[in-house]
Amino acid sequence: MTELRHKEVLLRKFKKSDAPRLQVLANNLKVSQNLRDAFPHPYSLSDANSFIANCMKQEPLTTFAIEYKGEYVGNIGLGIGGDVYRKSTEIGYFIGEAYWNKGIATKAINLITGYGFEELGIVRIHTGIFEYNKASMRVLEKCGFDKDGVFNASIYKNGKMWEEHRYSKIHPDYLTKS
Ligand SMILES: CC(C)(COP(=O)(O)OP(=O)(O)OC[C@H]1O[C@@H](n2cnc3c(N)ncnc32)[C@H](O)[C@@H]1OP(=O)(O)O)[C@@H](O)C(=O)NCCC(=O)NCCS
Repeated sequence: MTELRHKEVLLRKFKKSDAPRLQVLANNLKVSQNLRDAFPHPYSLSDANSFIANCMKQEPLTTFAIEYKGEYVGNIGLGIGGDVYRKSTEIGYFIGEAYWNKGIATKAINLITGYGFEELGIVRIHTGIFEYNKASMRVLEKCGFDKDGVFNASIYKNGKMWEEHRYSKIHPDYLTKS
């Protein structure tokens, strides 16, 4: 079973019993406003059940439940690309609001980045942050991601256009070989 741990932060496979807590943590505009519209608001128990059922089928595992001091507090995952992008992956994550600013996302991103590079053979991990999400930009910078650029008028969220700030991290072996 794939489990990744750094001190009090554990990334583990989802369990069906996580669904009620996922529904509560995810059903928060302060979370969903930073994510794609595919992450619903309101977030129902049925949404949580479907999400977890899909995660439990993954092989290899790419989407993890985040535990902090033994409590399930958020999600993190890698969406591996296809075709010529099969060595690239998009990272996505959220932490329940009650647990923000405790260093949990920083540890979780570092854990899944190491897993992607060392276990999945990924070379590039990237994501796009909405312009108002300063906390997420700060976390990625703490985790050694570089800002690749700012795409003007890239995001349409809540009826408005926003900049997208694109970040990535490259496997260190690839950087030294090129
Ligand atoms: C972004 C998010 C994952 C951060 O999780 P977290 O566990 O609180 O992150 P950490 O505690 O590891 O680090 C947060 C950092 O952001 C900083 N920060 C928080 N709010 C900030 C703000 N408004 N402006 C600038 N920095 C901010 C914190 O001070 C901390 O940096 P520091 O260690 O230098 O003090 C969490 O806020 C979240 O889930 N938000 C909603 C969903 C989301 O945005 N997902 C990512 C989409 S790209």
